[in-house]
Amino acid sequence: MVKKIGLAADHGGFELKEIISGYLKDNGFEVADYGAYSLNKTDDYPDFVIPLAQAVSQNKIDRGIAICGSGVGASIAANKVHGVRAALINDYFSSYQGVEDDHMNLLCLGGRVTGYAAALEYVKSFLNASYSQLERHLRRINKVNNLEK
Ligand code: RB5
Repeated sequence: MVKKIGLAADHGGFELKEIISGYLKDNGFEVADYGAYSLNKTDDYPDFVIPLAQAVSQNKIDRGIAICGSGVGASIAANKVHGVRAALINDYFSSYQGVEDDHMNLLCLGGRVTGYAAALEYVKSFLNASYSQLERHLRRINKVNNLEK
C-alpha cells in the first residue's frame, strides 16, 4: 500500500510542494519532506532531489514527488540514483500509465509550467496506480535494470 510519500523541491517548485504536502496530509498520507523548507531563490534542486531519490531507492518511502521549475532537472537528477524510475509528467494519462507499465516510482513536476489543480490530479493518479507486472512490462523493465548491474 502506498502510504509514505517523500517530497522535494527547489525554489521553482516550492509553492507547489507546499500545496501537495497539504493535500497529502489532509488525505491520510504520511509525508517525508526533503526540503527546501523555505523559499530561497538561490537554492539548487539536486540538494533536495538526490536525498529524496535515495530514500526511494532505499525503500524508506513508498514513492517520491520532486518538483523544480520545469521538472527537467529534477528528473535528470533522480534518475541517476540506482533503482529510481522517475519521469516528468505533464499529462493525466502518463501519471498512471507510467506506474502501470513502467513502474515509475518518482513523479517529477514543473512548478512553473503545471497548474496546481492539474498537478494534484497527476499526484492522485500516480499514487493510486500500481505496476501491472505483465510479462511484457517485466521484460522491458528488466532490460533497463540490466544497465544498473
Ligand atoms: C531553477 O531556476 C530552475 O532551473 C530549476 O528549478 C529547474 O527548472 C531545472 O530544471
